[in-house]
Amino acid sequence: MGSAGRIDPWSSDQSTDYGRIVKQFGLSSVDLGSLPNPGMLHRRGIVFAHRDLDVVVGCMNRSDPFGVLTGLMPSGRMHLGHSMVIDQVRWFQEQGADISVTVADLEALATRGTSLSKGRETAINEYVHNYAALGLDPDSTNVYFQSSRPSVQSLAFTLGKRTNLSEFEAIYGFNGETNLAHVQAPLVQVGDIIHPQLEDFGGLRPIVVPVGVDQDPHLRLTRDIAQKTNWFNVKSRKAGGVTVALSVQDGNLHEMGVSPTGRVDMQTRDRLVSRIVNEIADLGFSDIKPNSKHGIIEIPAATIDDRHRIKMKVLSLEREIGGMGLLPPCSTYHRFAVGMTGDKMSSSKPETTIFMDDSIDDMTKKVKRAISGGQPTVEEHRRHGGDVTKDVAFQYLQFFFEEDDKALEEVKIDYESGKLLAGDVKQICIDKATEWLEDLQEKRGQWEGRLSEFLAPDAI
Ligand code: TRP
Repeated sequence: MGSAGRIDPWSSDQSTDYGRIVKQFGLSSVDLGSLPNPGMLHRRGIVFAHRDLDVVVGCMNRSDPFGVLTGLMPSGRMHLGHSMVIDQVRWFQEQGADISVTVADLEALATRGTSLSKGRETAINEYVHNYAALGLDPDSTNVYFQSSRPSVQSLAFTLGKRTNLSEFEAIYGFNGETNLAHVQAPLVQVGDIIHPQLEDFGGLRPIVVPVGVDQDPHLRLTRDIAQKTNWFNVKSRKAGGVTVALSVQDGNLHEMGVSPTGRVDMQTRDRLVSRIVNEIADLGFSDIKPNSKHGIIEIPAATIDDRHRIKMKVLSLEREIGGMGLLPPCSTYHRFAVGMTGDKMSSSKPETTIFMDDSIDDMTKKVKRAISGGQPTVEEHRRHGGDVTKDVAFQYLQFFFEEDDKALEEVKIDYESGKLLAGDVKQICIDKATEWLEDLQEKRGQWEGRLSEFLAPDAI
């Protein structure tokens, strides 16, 4: 975490004070283990927080459409740290989501000097190849490039109207020296996150963005911008129920019944308000209290759960009458796995992590050298037992290699009781990681030459 309590999305410094992050950024931290079919990352508390995930869970329960948007930086080799987002994506895909994957080639150009052609090659041969091997289903996955999707760039430009340099200074710490390509990168990411809602890319539906918490500044920015574009604000009332309030803006004066002099034309206003009332009545509410003059519509009996349905109704109405009708993105956040040396995982320090195509030999060496939670002598270890919270091999079993909860729990019990030595846990990790890496390599082989199945038409 950088100065001023900021998270710098471009730094490899990964704050791990999750409790503070949840509070400081207003994330929700409900028990994700109680989800329908929780995946491994949820069951084990690895996904620790979210924004509006209940909206997405509602879609799962009703079999309503929803999408996932994820992104990759096409630089360096793919390692275990990167696979965590894909584990989340795969889980959402199994629950019915369509998947968009952005190759952040413009961002890599702006922030790392990676050329577009090099970015393309790395994205496909390194990342998409491994995503395929990790089990993403190509039928509902679309990989695209920031540099070749005009809709994304156009959104980046137009939504840029809703923010300014001071806000970027506050969020990202940008200053007068900041390269302008770097300034554009977050706006392109806003475009990435918003664009699946456009009619050409699947239309209005919730979009969830699974990320490491370092990406949260972009999500806050996107949610804030989306909300600023909304013509109708949907809020919970203190007294219970939901209020819809018109948001009069430069671009919608005519539709809101406001004349250039600021006078409200009650006929236009009444017509608009009764269209909203009709939309809400469609949902089955009969007690709807409109107040045209103040531009609000109250639905006293609506619950929190109804709020989303009302929101969807007014967003599609907004689209019909010329607005963008954007839903703020939902998001989920996973913990970072510790680096093998106790440092952060980083592609530039190969000893800190396991790469998707590491040889068994290299992996074995890394696990053997990894920080352990064992006691200094065998006698002490048998007496006091090992500490799983410090033991990298155990944590890698927990995060990546051991799918079976019972088997994992047995390792934990035996390690903590002193029955298993640190070296034993490392050997278990090496065996499991060997299976995992060999399986992945075999699957990569099966996808050789077929990766275009994952690419969107504008990416070929
Ligand atoms: N900024 C992300 C990274 O550094 C890449 C990215 C671009 C992204 N657009 C995105 C991630 C949209 C999630 C959603 O890795």
